[in-house]
Amino acid sequence: MKRIFSGIQPTGEIHIGNYLGAIQNWVSLIDDYDCIYCIVDYHAITIDFESHMMKSQIMETAIVNMGCGLDPERCSLFVQSHVPEHTELAWIFNCITPIGELERMTQFKDKSKQHRHNINIGLLNYPVLQAADILLYKAHFVPVGEDQFQHVELTREIARKFNRRFGEVFPEPQVLSPNTPRILGLDGKKKMSKSINNYLGLTEPEDEIWEKLRKAVTDEARKRRRDPGNPDRCNIFTIHGGFGSREDLEAIDRGCREATIGCVDHKRMLYEDMMAHLTPIRNRIRELRGNIDYVKEVLENGATRCKAIAVEVMDEVKAKTGLAR
Ligand code: AMP
Ligand code: TRP
Repeated sequence: MKRIFSGIQPTGEIHIGNYLGAIQNWVSLIDDYDCIYCIVDYHAITIDFESHMMKSQIMETAIVNMGCGLDPERCSLFVQSHVPEHTELAWIFNCITPIGELERMTQFKDKSKQHRHNINIGLLNYPVLQAADILLYKAHFVPVGEDQFQHVELTREIARKFNRRFGEVFPEPQVLSPNTPRILGLDGKKKMSKSINNYLGLTEPEDEIWEKLRKAVTDEARKRRRDPGNPDRCNIFTIHGGFGSREDLEAIDRGCREATIGCVDHKRMLYEDMMAHLTPIRNRIRELRGNIDYVKEVLENGATRCKAIAVEVMDEVKAKTGLAR
């Protein structure tokens, strides 16, 4: 079985951008690949964070992912810092990665603007640690949203460079793109993100979800109900793509272009479809929140399995680089 690796940061509430851009895709892959999914706490500390919140955020991230369908019997789920080989390999990669490559990364530039008071070396090195995450397991595929494609491209470069210089160790991993690789926020402009309040949280109360959705931006050219709209320019339509049936979406597409369906009508349909999809997930999440010991056990087992793979690959890396004992 080919191997898959992906990661998510424990930085706050998981939103439907994460779900449609990543987690839903992860779940769909678990029976066809050897899937390893990681809660990347070392990545999360590259921006400001509250140390007293970290543990609960890690647990909540695990719970939501499991609730979405990451069944620990069929894939591995673990916490990055539980397997220290991630940072060990990142150090070696640091020494073959030019600073210029990292300064060019879009996410680094964006986050440097957002966190001017805290542009630390970890933030610059973030993609090197990500490359180590992926290559430590010799993963073949990396399912991520569009914002991460550039980091996977850098991972491929690092793999090539390492292999050229020290001998063949790493396969070049490829992106697995989801159906909806980029979900915009409710503002209809910026990427849906935890750091801006433009998201729909997976576990938010239903009335709050509806309130947020009701006010969300649609096709801005459609000022009145009788104006025809363009679903290609409507973020609500994109989001609906992740939850609605093909027939319904085709009917909505027509209704929007012919102005027979209004934006609020459409939002109501999206709301119904989304809640039908999310309710079983939200129920499982509620159950898991009451069963923390089980979640801890899942993460421990995940780390044990991943550690065994990581140690083996690190031995190979050390032998190739001349660092072996
Ligand atoms: P993060 O929350 O930044 O750790 O991201 C976890 C995963 O969700 C990554 O695979 C991202 O590419 C994906 N993701 C985050 N935000 C979005 C979005 N707005 N649209 C699509 N995918 C996203
Ligand atoms: N940088 C990714 C994000 O913010 C998270 C991540 C860390 C990751 N390591 C990874 C994703 C390895 C895929 C593979 O979404």
